[in-house]
Amino acid sequence: MRHLIEIADLSNAEIETLIHTANDMMTHPEDYWDACAHRKLATLFYEPSTRTRLSFESAMLSLGGQVLGFSDVGSSSVSKGESLQDTIRIVSSYADIIAIRHPRDGAALAAALKSGVPIINAGDGGHDHPTQTLTDLTLISREKGHIGSMTIGLCGDLRYGRTVHSLVEALCRYPSIHFLLIAPEELRMPGFVRELLESTGQTYEEVEDLDAALPQLDILYMTRVQRERFSDPAVYERVKDFYILTPERMERARKDLTVMHPLPRVNEISPLLDDDPRAAYFRQAACGRYIRMALIQMLLEEKDRPHELTGHNVIWQEHSLCPNNRCVSLSEPCLQWGYIPGKHSGDRARCIYCGRGIS
Ligand code: NCD
Repeated sequence: MRHLIEIADLSNAEIETLIHTANDMMTHPEDYWDACAHRKLATLFYEPSTRTRLSFESAMLSLGGQVLGFSDVGSSSVSKGESLQDTIRIVSSYADIIAIRHPRDGAALAAALKSGVPIINAGDGGHDHPTQTLTDLTLISREKGHIGSMTIGLCGDLRYGRTVHSLVEALCRYPSIHFLLIAPEELRMPGFVRELLESTGQTYEEVEDLDAALPQLDILYMTRVQRERFSDPAVYERVKDFYILTPERMERARKDLTVMHPLPRVNEISPLLDDDPRAAYFRQAACGRYIRMALIQMLLEEKDRPHELTGHNVIWQEHSLCPNNRCVSLSEPCLQWGYIPGKHSGDRARCIYCGRGIS
C-alpha cells in the first residue's frame, strides 16, 4: 500500500510531477472533475484544523469524489476509548483513502501499519506535516520559479512546529540552500532535524535576532508558537510573542522577499502586512487545495505500490524504548515498536514512529 507518512516517501521527481499537476489543476480544473468519481476520502481529525481538513475535503470534491469523517473526537468512538489502530481498520473498509491528523508523534505510521487503504499524514503531533510541505514547495516554485540556491529563514517555534521539520527534510534534497534557524533557546530546532541538515551537507546557522537575519533572506517562513504542545504554561507565556513581524521591521527586508506562514497566525505577523506584495501566506494556503488534489489522485492511482518504511531495515521489539513521551508507541496498545539502526558509527538508532534518537 502506498502512503504519505513523511516527505521521504516521495522522490524529487514525484514532487515535481505533483507540483506540475497542481498547477495544471489550478488552470484547468474542469479536466479533473471526474478524476476520482465514486472514490471516498475519510478525514480523521483528532486535532483542530481549518485549512488542512477543508482543503483535503475540497480537493476530493473537486475530483468528483466523496468525503466522510470526523473533526471532533468527542463525537466518535475514540471518546469511548477505541484505539487508533482499531479505528483505522474499520474506516479503511469504508473509504478508499484516509487523511489523518493526530496529537501523537508517529501516529500516521501507526495508522498505516493497520490500514487497507492509503494513509496521508495530515500532521502527527510535533513530528511531521508532509502535505503542508508539498503546499510550501508549490508556493516556493510559483513565487521564485525554482527551488534551491536560496537563503531561507525559519522563524519562531522550531521545536514543536511540525511544518518546519517536514520542510527542512524536503529542502535538504535541493541544491545550495542556506538555512537561518531563528528561534530562542526554548524553541530551538530539535536534534533530529539538525542532524539531518548536517548529514546532507546543507549549511545552517542558529540565530535569535530576526532583525539581523532579515536583510539576508530570500524566504522568511514564520511559525506560530504551538501552545498545545507545551507542558509548562509559564514557558509558553515567556516565548509566545518573541517574534512579531511588522511593516516597520519589513523595511529591513529585500524587495523580493517571500513571507510564508502555514497559518493559523496568532500574533507573529501583523495584519498590517497583509497587503504587502511580499506577504505570500494567503497565496500559500490557496495552493493547499490543488497539491492535495494532485496527491490524492496519485495515491489512488498507485495504491498497490508498497510503502517501504522509508527503505531502512527495521529492528522490531516487543516493548517501546522510545524516550519521547509524546510518541504514539507509548500510548497505543499492542503497537509493535521498532527502530532503525544508525547507518554509521556515531549515527544514533531512531524510533520508526517519531524519529527520536535512541541512546
Ligand atoms: C499548521 C499545523 O497544523 O501544524 N497548520 C496547518 O496545517 N496549516 C501550523 C500550526 O498549527 O501552527
